[in-house]
Amino acid sequence: MKICCIGAGYVGGPTMAMIAKQCEDIQVTVVDINEKRIAAWNSDELPIYEPGLDEVVQEARGRNLFFSTNVDQAICDADIIFVSVNTPTKTFGAGAGCASDLQYWELCARQIKKVATSDKIIVEKSTLPVRTAEAMDRVLHSGDGNIHFEVLSNPEFLAEGTAIADLENPDRVLIGGHQTPSGQKALQTLVDIYARWVPREKILTANVWSAELSKLTANAFLAQRISSINAISALCEATEANVNEVSHAIGTDSRIGSKFLRASIGFGGSCFKKDILNLVYLCESYGLQEPADYWRQVVLMNEYQETRFVHKMIRSMFNTIAGKRIAIFGFAFKADTSDTRESPAIRVCRELAEEHAQVVVTDPKALENAKIELADSLEHISFEKDPYRAAEGAHAIALITEWPEYATLDYQRIYDSMTKPAFIFDGRNLLDFDHLFKIGFEIYSIGRDVKSHLK
Ligand code: UDX
Ligand code: UDX
Repeated sequence: MKICCIGAGYVGGPTMAMIAKQCEDIQVTVVDINEKRIAAWNSDELPIYEPGLDEVVQEARGRNLFFSTNVDQAICDADIIFVSVNTPTKTFGAGAGCASDLQYWELCARQIKKVATSDKIIVEKSTLPVRTAEAMDRVLHSGDGNIHFEVLSNPEFLAEGTAIADLENPDRVLIGGHQTPSGQKALQTLVDIYARWVPREKILTANVWSAELSKLTANAFLAQRISSINAISALCEATEANVNEVSHAIGTDSRIGSKFLRASIGFGGSCFKKDILNLVYLCESYGLQEPADYWRQVVLMNEYQETRFVHKMIRSMFNTIAGKRIAIFGFAFKADTSDTRESPAIRVCRELAEEHAQVVVTDPKALENAKIELADSLEHISFEKDPYRAAEGAHAIALITEWPEYATLDYQRIYDSMTKPAFIFDGRNLLDFDHLFKIGFEIYSIGRDVKSHLK
């Protein structure tokens, strides 16, 4: 059996590497139009940072895992084609700012139709609006030709930073297929592949529409939990309640559960915002305004949380930060990834730069991506790999990403090198506040009391 995956990104690359690792007899080829990316996948310096990924790729690459730019050949040879190209939020035309831009998707379908000479199973890996498979079917079966394409939906639930563990031992695998004999046969083929390493009871099957909608719903629910606890964090700051204590207390209720209740500066990443806006657009296009408004509020809450953080910085630093050096600790949207898409750090840096602060960004893995994200506002922003040097002479540190190494830095050394009063704004509630306070820092966090020597 041969598998091809179109799109060698954060989802396609690791997912295919895992299939190749687990199924030595299946030839897996990952293709991408981006030559640089494919070259990186074929080198020792993989294009994405993901713990454990190097080992999996090294084991399978050249044996039954291949990376190539020859898209047509891979399509032609494959029995199963995963499509994992990006589906960003539309920036133009109808639904701009909300709907998914499906142009790459449709191009892939047309390409598959053009070059295929035998029946294929097409698997939707990208996150897509519900009923995309219908459009796929139409494109693939348009015109004449007697090749049969069966479209399945197999949304990916891996989180970046834990992708390999999530793929190796997933909570569940979800596969949607049409309720026809050929749909069910294709579905069984994919079930049998995952069953090589995932227990059968964890492989859920559903109709295509349910599978498509489940992915959007899962991300919306996860993001909603963060926005809910972040809404409470603002109230905590006003009332001397401590959001960590509230999270812990409510999380021990087994009906609520303890995960995804970490108050933060806000959620980032390529999925949450895009998928919720997609859900909002879907609701609106079915005339369901109240459900649309309900979900939109999760995104608005997230933007409020980011802006609130910046305003708190400015206010506490005596309402002026012009010319002040501010060190940004962490630019990735979360720890253990080099991915900076939709990171709260973007808004923070931009708003601080607009106030003419002198922003210095540091991050252990994401500095290159940070430079690309901020390419248009470099006048007030610089980059420094070493956190100690970034903090030298700074008036403040803003911790945006919860990299564990930031918890164990020598903060006495950092304090000694900073301008006084030295502020820390902890956007992740990561640091040991009592220790920092003893050193002399002014400490502002999320959903907790301010610790200040100036009061
Ligand atoms: C994926 C899914 O595609 C997205 O829908 C989901 O919500 C998040 O995960 P991701 O893997 O993170 O996205 O995207 P990205 O890293 O941008 O990878 C997509 C790849 O597809 C890129 O390397 C791009 O070059 C490639 N691509 C895009 C093609 O090969 N052909 C195209 O026509 C378009
Ligand atoms: C998410 C989903 O978890 C995954 O199942 C889906 O396939 C893709 O989208 P990802 O975006 O990689 O994965 O990361 P995730 O761990 O979900 O974190 C998203 C954001 O939420 C990060 O910015 C993170 O820092 C933030 N977060 C997470 C919080 O602020 N608080 C929490 O309690 C948890």
